[in-house]
Amino acid sequence: MPPGPQPSVAAAPPGGIADFDYSNFYYSSSDDIFAIFDPYNEWWYGHARNNGYYLYSQPMSTPPGPRIDLEEQMGHERLHLLNLASYNYLGLSYHPEVIDAAKQALDQYGLGAAGSPILSGTMEIHVQLEKAIAKFKQKDAAMVFPTGYSTNVGLISALMRPGDWVIMDQNVHASIVDGAILSKANVRFFRHNRPDDLEKKLSGTSGKRLVIVEGVYSMDGDEARLPEIVEVAKRHDARIMIDEAHSSFLYGKAGRGVAEKYGVEDDIDIHVGTFSKALGGMGGFVAGSQSLYNYLMGFARSRVFSCALAPAVSAGVLQALHIAEREPQLRETLWSNVAHMRGLLAEAGIDVGESTSQIIPIMIRNDRKIFGIARALQRAGLYLQPIIYPAVAKNRSRFRISISAVHTSQQLDEAATILSDVLQAEGMR
Ligand SMILES: Cc1ncc(COP(=O)(O)O)c(C=O)c1O
Repeated sequence: MPPGPQPSVAAAPPGGIADFDYSNFYYSSSDDIFAIFDPYNEWWYGHARNNGYYLYSQPMSTPPGPRIDLEEQMGHERLHLLNLASYNYLGLSYHPEVIDAAKQALDQYGLGAAGSPILSGTMEIHVQLEKAIAKFKQKDAAMVFPTGYSTNVGLISALMRPGDWVIMDQNVHASIVDGAILSKANVRFFRHNRPDDLEKKLSGTSGKRLVIVEGVYSMDGDEARLPEIVEVAKRHDARIMIDEAHSSFLYGKAGRGVAEKYGVEDDIDIHVGTFSKALGGMGGFVAGSQSLYNYLMGFARSRVFSCALAPAVSAGVLQALHIAEREPQLRETLWSNVAHMRGLLAEAGIDVGESTSQIIPIMIRNDRKIFGIARALQRAGLYLQPIIYPAVAKNRSRFRISISAVHTSQQLDEAATILSDVLQAEGMR
C-alpha cells in the first residue's frame, strides 16, 4: 500500500465532492497506474470544471497587457477584461523593439535552436545574451537555461550530492524544491523569512550546506530579510543562493535585484533570475563565477539534455534587457503604480497579507469560495487568477495581483473598485 490517504470519489469528504482538491488524487489502492485517472476525471469533468471550481488555462487571444481578450470558462463567449494577473511587470513582452528584435532573429536563425547548447544549439545570439546578463549582474559569467524552472532544477542538482544539505525558506518556488529533491541531498526548510529559524536549522549540520532564498516571494510578494539571512549563513560557512525571479530588473538602483538593494550582492554566491517576468520573455539564468559556469556546462542536466532557448526569444529578451537598462523610468512608474494600488486597497480595507512589492495577494483564505469570487470578478470585468493548494498551503488561498508599469492609474482605480464591490457582495469585507 502506498503511504498517505487512499481517497476515492466514493469516500467523499463531508462537504461532498466539492471539498476535494488535488491532494485527494495522489494515490489509488489499485496496482494499475491508470486506475488513478478515473476518480480524478470524474471530479474534474463531472464536477469541478462544470461547476466553475476550476478557472485556469482560459485561452487568451491578445498579448498579456492591461486589457485582454480571453475565453470564458466553458469556451462559449469571449471576454474583454482588465488584466492584473500577468507577470509582464514592465510591459516588455509586446514592446515594438522587442518584437522587432525577435522577428529579425527569426529571419536569421529560423524557429528553434535544433540542438542542446553544449552540442549544436549554441548560436551567436545565445552568447550575446549570456555576456549581456553577466555584464548587467556584474559577474564573471552568466548561463542561460530554457526556463526558470529548469534553471533551478539543473543548478541545484548539479551542485548538491547525497549527504550534503540544502536549507531553504519554506516558501521557495517548486523548481527549487524539485532541484533539491533531484539532488538527493538532505533537505531542511526554515520558517518563512526567519533568520532565527535558519540559525536553528543550520546548527547540527556539517559538510556542504547551501542556503536558498528568493528576492521577492512569488505568492506573498514579501522581500527576503536578506542582510540577516546572509549574516547567519556566512557565520555557519554555508553557501548562499538567491532566486530573483520576481525582483530581477526591478529592485535596486540599477535593477539588479533585492541583493543590490541591500548591498549584499558580493556576499551571495549564486544569483538566479528568470526572463519570464519583468523582461516578458522566457528562460532563466545563473550568474556567478567563471568556474561555476564551467562546472554547470558539464553537470546541469536540465540544460545539457535539453534544446537551447529559441533564438528569437533570446533576441527578444536581449532587447528587453537593453530597454530595462536604458529606461529606469519604467521601474519608477511601476513603483508609483504599486504605491497607488496599495493605497486604494488599504482605503478599501482589503487584506493584502505581508506584501511589500508589485505582487499583491488579495487574501481570501477560503479554498471553496475563491472560485465563485473569481467568476464574479470576471463578470465585473477583472481578470485575476485564484491561487489555491498546492501553489499555497490549504486555506491560504488568494488572488495574486501583479502590477505593471503599463497599467494606468485609471485602470488601477477601476480594478480596485471592482475588487472592493465584489468582495463586499461576497461578504469578504
Ligand atoms: C521564484 C521562482 N523561480 C522560478 C520560477 C520559474 O520560472 P519560469 O516560469 O521562467 O520557468 C518561478 C515562476 O514563477 C518563480 O516564481
